[in-house]
Amino acid sequence: MKVIVARSAGYCFGVNRAIEMVDALLRKGKKVCTLGPIIHNPQTLAQFAERGVKIVDSPDEAPADATIVIRSHGVSKAVCDAIFEKKLECVDATCPFVAKIHKIVSKASAEGKTVLIAGDCSHPEVQGIRGHCSENCFVFRNAEELRGILQNIPIDNKMPPCVVAQTTFSVSEWENCLEIIKRVYTNATIFDTICNATAVRQSEAESLSRCCDVMIVIGGRQSSNTAKLRDVCRKNCSTYLIETADELPLSALKGAECIGITAGASTPASIIKEVLDTMSEINEAAGQNLMENNAEGN
Ligand code: F3S
Repeated sequence: MKVIVARSAGYCFGVNRAIEMVDALLRKGKKVCTLGPIIHNPQTLAQFAERGVKIVDSPDEAPADATIVIRSHGVSKAVCDAIFEKKLECVDATCPFVAKIHKIVSKASAEGKTVLIAGDCSHPEVQGIRGHCSENCFVFRNAEELRGILQNIPIDNKMPPCVVAQTTFSVSEWENCLEIIKRVYTNATIFDTICNATAVRQSEAESLSRCCDVMIVIGGRQSSNTAKLRDVCRKNCSTYLIETADELPLSALKGAECIGITAGASTPASIIKEVLDTMSEINEAAGQNLMENNAEGN
């Protein structure tokens, strides 16, 4: 059995930064609460909970003596204002790439432009982005939803829309959507805000899944970028999404010649290592030792 680990598997810059910010506050002895879970990884959340980190849904729920942390997804302007009004101590761990989208859409809204957002309207990052727009803003998950929106809004090439994407949006779906937008508007202002880390992770997962019999995608079931990796891989081979090494589908791995491993942006290196160790044990038990770890630093 040959095992290949995607180089891009694991924490992205923005998630790593947010985790380190919470860790630094705890080391200073601060009482910490986060606005929503800081990461879509139940194991990391459990470790933070043991260290006293509380998760709150709104600034109203934050204890006055706590430091409130805005996670990498960012929040709406209204939530920022509420934190300021309540005079809460705040650490802003919004990923700089997400903060850049906030700036783009708030400028476009101030200029009176329609904002089109490629993304999942139920995702906190998209809710945060919407919260920096005027009401003249529309979210679409795919080309079909975009077509529906474009049929219902006035097409005015004198005031073309501003188009952005959720940082973890599917690269191929974004390209489909841009084709449609460019057919309708000659001069839409398009910002490709898909995070490079996401694009690299998806394209590596795509090519790895083409040459493997089985793909293991490690990540939280609530993590949208992990779910997208699973979707990319399962077009090409049998794919399993697992949160921990205990969930490895042992019977599916038996007989596989080549197994690929990737992991979402919020998957800690320790969990990837556990999965690799377990697979190494399976390999040894099978009397083989052909494991090839293509990862850098894993
Ligand atoms: Fe930021 Fe990209 Fe991660 S936007 S949170 S570095 S996936």
